[in-house]
Formats: sequence, structure tokens, C-alpha cells
Amino acid sequence: MRMAAEAIAAETGAPGRVQSIDSARHPVARRVADTLRNRSQKPRVFIIDDRENIEQAVACGIRLDSLYAAASAAEDRFIFAADHPRTPLYILGDAVIGRLFGEQKRARVFALAHSPRRPRLRDLSRNSGDVIALDGVRLIGNIGATTRTACGLGAAGVVLLESGLRTVLDRRLIRASRGLVFATPVVTATREEFAGFVHREGLPVAALSAGATEPLNAIRSVQERLVISLGGERDGLSPEMAALATHRYAIPMASRVESLNVSVTAGIALYEHRYGRR
Ligand SMILES: C[S@@+](CC[C@H](N)C(=O)[O-])C[C@H]1O[C@@H](n2cnc3c(N)ncnc32)[C@H](O)[C@@H]1O
Repeated sequence: MRMAAEAIAAETGAPGRVQSIDSARHPVARRVADTLRNRSQKPRVFIIDDRENIEQAVACGIRLDSLYAAASAAEDRFIFAADHPRTPLYILGDAVIGRLFGEQKRARVFALAHSPRRPRLRDLSRNSGDVIALDGVRLIGNIGATTRTACGLGAAGVVLLESGLRTVLDRRLIRASRGLVFATPVVTATREEFAGFVHREGLPVAALSAGATEPLNAIRSVQERLVISLGGERDGLSPEMAALATHRYAIPMASRVESLNVSVTAGIALYEHRYGRR
């Protein structure tokens, strides 16, 4: 292990910045363990897994605190050392990684990063795109995939209502969104707060549900930006969100299918409204 740190330091000319950590009791490892356990709404630092997500976060302005790589992740370690010459790099043995992550998904490379300012509802007004509201969507994979889709199709942001997430700096969500949770405002709010925002901003709301009678292509004639609201995996849209709707649309489906995945629905609706507008 010490050899690995010395080899990187020699190769990258960064002695003293690369350190091998051989024990889960080392203060550096304990700090990672504390960050993994932190359930605060406003953590000071948070974890980003995998090189691709780390680079996406950095491209979105996230500041790295420190980088970590398994002794066996040679390529990633050298790239980290070259691309982030000022960020401390720690090399962890497999046993240390196993102890740190325990039952949670293990990461062979990860970063601790400084928490950015928490996005607010008013941040959604800075951009002219549609707003995606996920009402009671609780599967992190679905929230992440919808966030990625929303970014790709120019949405102004995503609002999470009753998602069960304390913070969007959740490592599972960062992974599921491919680091794009930092590229657009992803805001947690109560239904009441969101209803207040919609009324203040005078935003029309398109509620999507498989049972609606109007087909989605009617969305092409709506000229203003919209809130596109989508329901949760089990119960669909809540009565509170359904009551906010000014438009109701369904995507026609084959008769054997009960519903589409929420991120697929978000993608089709955003695309129809953005590119199909007459
Ligand atoms: C997996 S579905 C939820 C199914 C749930 N049992 C229900 O009753 O809505 C998640 C969300 O995607 C949207 N959705 C799924 N299929 C749709 C379709 N064919 N047309 C419009 N929206 C749809 C709805 O907003 C729905 O609440």
C-alpha cells in the first residue's frame, strides 16, 4: 500500500498529497465513516461515488474536499492525481473499504465534497423551461433517472414532494442521476409549499395520468411554461396535486400495459412540449 502511494507521488510529482490509509481507525477513514452515517439535512461534506459522477459534479461547480481510491483502482488513482493536483488523495486497502461501507454499496473510487447551497423553489424561476414535479415518487432510481431526463430536455428543475429524501446530496441519488443532480435545481418541498409557489408564479399545471381522457399531444398547443406533475409508483398523483391541475393528459399505451415508468413519462412530456409546440 505504501508503495502505491509512493509510486503515484513519484509519477505525478505530488509527494505528501497522496497518502495510504491502512486502518479503518485512521482519522481520515473515520471522517469518511462519519460522512456515510450522517443523516443531517445540511451535511457539511457529502460523498460522490465513481469518477464519472465526480467529474460531472466538478463541472457543475462542486468543490472537492478529498479523493479516495482503492489500491486496486490504479487507472482512476493516476487520473485523479493528474486532474486534481491540489486535492488530497487517499489510497485505501480493500479491507478498509469493506469496513467503511459495511452493508452499503461499496465504492472503489469516491470523493468527499463541500455541500453546495440547498436549492429553493425560487431557483426554478431563473430558467424558462418546464418544471417537473414528482409527487410521492420514492424510488431513488426513478428520481435519479427523471433528474437526468429533465436536465437533458431543458427543464427548469425538479421538485420532490414526499420523496422521503432528507437531502438531495444522497449518494444513491447522485449515482442514479449520473451526477446531474447538481446541473439543475432539485428541490425538496411540501405539497403546501409547492402549491403556494405555483399560485404566486401563476404557473399552469399539467397532471399526467394513464387514466386522463385527453391525449398528451394536446400539450403542443400550450404556449406557456408548465409544471408537469407525475405521481408515485404505487398511488399515482395525490388529491392535492390533482386539484392544482389546469390540464390533464394521458400517453396512449398498448392495452396490456397499466402504466409507464415515471422517468419515461417525464421524457415524453418534456419532449412533446418543447419540440412539438405549434
Ligand atoms: C408508475 S406510474 C404510477 C402508477 C400508479 N398505479 C397510478 O395509479 O398512477 C407513475 C406516474 O407516471 C405517470 N404515467 C405513467 N403512465 C402514464 C401514461 N400512460 N400517461 C400519462 N401519465 C403516465 C403518472 O403520472 C403516474 O402517476
